Amino acid sequence: MNRDPYLLTPGPITTSLTVKQAMLHDWGSWDADFNAVTGEVCRRLLVEANAEASHQCIPLQGSGTYAVEATLATLVPTDGKLLILMNGAYGQRMAKICDYIGRRYCSLDKGDYLPPLPHEVESILADDPAITHVAVVHCETSSGILNPVEQIAEVVARAGRRLIIDSMSAFGALPIDAQTLPFDALVSSANKCFEGVPGFGFALIQNDALAAAKGQAHSLSLDLYEQWQYMQRTGQWRFTPPTHCVAAFLKALDEHADEGGSTGRLARYQRNRDRLVAGMRARGFATLLEDQWLSPIIVTFLAPQHPNFEFKRFYDLLKAQGYIIYPGKLTEADSFRIGCIGKLFDPQIDELLQVMDQVLNRMEIPMDQAVA
Ligand SMILES: Cc1ncc(COP(=O)(O)O)c(C=O)c1O
Repeated sequence: MNRDPYLLTPGPITTSLTVKQAMLHDWGSWDADFNAVTGEVCRRLLVEANAEASHQCIPLQGSGTYAVEATLATLVPTDGKLLILMNGAYGQRMAKICDYIGRRYCSLDKGDYLPPLPHEVESILADDPAITHVAVVHCETSSGILNPVEQIAEVVARAGRRLIIDSMSAFGALPIDAQTLPFDALVSSANKCFEGVPGFGFALIQNDALAAAKGQAHSLSLDLYEQWQYMQRTGQWRFTPPTHCVAAFLKALDEHADEGGSTGRLARYQRNRDRLVAGMRARGFATLLEDQWLSPIIVTFLAPQHPNFEFKRFYDLLKAQGYIIYPGKLTEADSFRIGCIGKLFDPQIDELLQVMDQVLNRMEIPMDQAVA
């Protein structure tokens, strides 16, 4: 194989050559040139969410989980209480974070693949006045379900509570407008729909919520209030920044704009998903979710019941042909996932489907019997 494998995963994803090339320079972390890169990245992320007037963008070193943990720690006061809307691994992870950082929480757990519904949230909020914040995962990447964040935001705002959105795998493709979708924080990271490389996450935090957050975080390095204050004063990150990743991200943002911003990117990802799902269904595979909940980010397919199917072998054979897919993350059904995000176009989806035919053939699974 004389190329990198294509990553059909929820991140890190396949990036463009030009984004990778943007990392071929060294930057001084305190230098004005690098500070300008950081400032421009933050400015553009705020513009992307129509949030320049209402929110601040605070980047944080580390993977997406660091940014989620930092946001919960910074925004939920020690005497607050979080309602976590769960339907997969990333909602569950927020509960684990609360266990670690000592924040009270309760949850609405919809299992593996059902969305939290606005009326359910409304009634929990009405019954428990102690709840101060609600957290929802925009696209729950463990199944690929797209949760109804707009309707949930409306219910949360009407009940006078604060909303935190984990939009890790959605922001950059799914449209966000902070002026019509009320949120205190939206968290995402560099290596998902903006198609940058891994190394940092960021939170867009509403001005008043941030101003009120001084001293709330349990952790020095995860305190987003302090990170913001320091950046305001100096233009610098508080601790060593992932300079190469930030430079690559600015290039990724240029390419995002060239593709028509979130609208253009969403159209390509939807096209990838539709092509992939049609091709997989034609081969007898079934999706976990009904069409209305299928996100253009990642799709979960049920593992075939055929006795010859073994995920590890399936994965290895696809990898040998240059395609990396993702294991399933469901608690109940056997499944695997295929991502639609990253620098992937029609030819990659079509080739993956052809490779899939060869692999099923090798595994002696007749295509019409691959049905889950
Ligand atoms: C919705 C969501 N939240 C949180 C995370 C955690 O991000 P990371 O694995 O970068 O820590 C992910 C990762 O895929 C995700 O999809």
